Amino acid sequence: MTNRISGTTSLIGLLGNPVKHSKSPLIQNTALEALGLNHVYMAFEVEDGKLKESLEALKVLGAVGGNITMPFKTKIIEYLDDISSEARIIGSINTIKIHENGRITGYNTDGIGFVKSLEENKVEFKGKKIVIAGAGGAAKAIATQLAFDGVGEVVIFNRTLEKAKKIIDVINKSVSSCKATAKVMDETDLVEEIKDAAVLVNCTSIGMKATIGQAIISSSAQLPKDVFVADIIYDPEQTKLLKIAEEAGCRYMNGLMMLIWQGAIAFNVWTDKDMPVDLIKSKCF
Ligand code: ATR
Repeated sequence: MTNRISGTTSLIGLLGNPVKHSKSPLIQNTALEALGLNHVYMAFEVEDGKLKESLEALKVLGAVGGNITMPFKTKIIEYLDDISSEARIIGSINTIKIHENGRITGYNTDGIGFVKSLEENKVEFKGKKIVIAGAGGAAKAIATQLAFDGVGEVVIFNRTLEKAKKIIDVINKSVSSCKATAKVMDETDLVEEIKDAAVLVNCTSIGMKATIGQAIISSSAQLPKDVFVADIIYDPEQTKLLKIAEEAGCRYMNGLMMLIWQGAIAFNVWTDKDMPVDLIKSKCF
């Protein structure tokens, strides 16, 4: 990789904290190298209170853009010049483009990345009902984007009901074709709502390393075979929820393609080029 960096190479920066675990530098640099593009992607761990200076630094150093991750996805909004319409409604930013005139535009590619991976799996979701577990940043982007893209009904379950309510209020206000409902996390109720749903999405952290072996539902008998099950977790590759989905005979996907697609859409924002997603999947994972 060193050979491709020259005096004219420009920067794309990830701002967040923590960032050392991030897969984005590997994904983006592999794609930049494959396409012979003269940018380098670097991750920067930004201290609390230093976001504005970090963004200014990217601008001053001629960076073409960047990614924004936890805990700055909302805070960044006040420092941007323009925001895409989806990102404004979602209320969080994960991608920025720094234009030649210095103006900075913010985007959110998380929800679009998820929708892309559903489409890749040929999942029919237009006019259908989707059940989402969780109401964090990822759930918000996914639920809102699905509503924009034609889902008929969204039901969001969350341990903290207030957070789910905030998301559904935004959807019900902004997308008249989608009916959104918030419910407190409860397995019996969740199972009832899944019965006539097309897709179940886990956006909680249940099933990640700290809670490996746990899932939002406890047995395959509770999953109708025709529900597509999506978990946004990609490590472990197959969560307990996805094992249950497999046992139930459901089609399912983990969060890997969402991760790659959100990066691919950001890559396109910076470079106007399509990321070679199959190459990334084979080389980076
Ligand atoms: P992200 O930004 O990746 O979506 P997050 O904002 O930390 O992550 O959201 C994590 C989600 O997992 C939240 O919906 C959280 O529920 P709360 O809003 O009630 O905190 C959910 N979650 C995490 N651990 C959970 C648990 N043990 N039981 C139920 N929900 C859990």
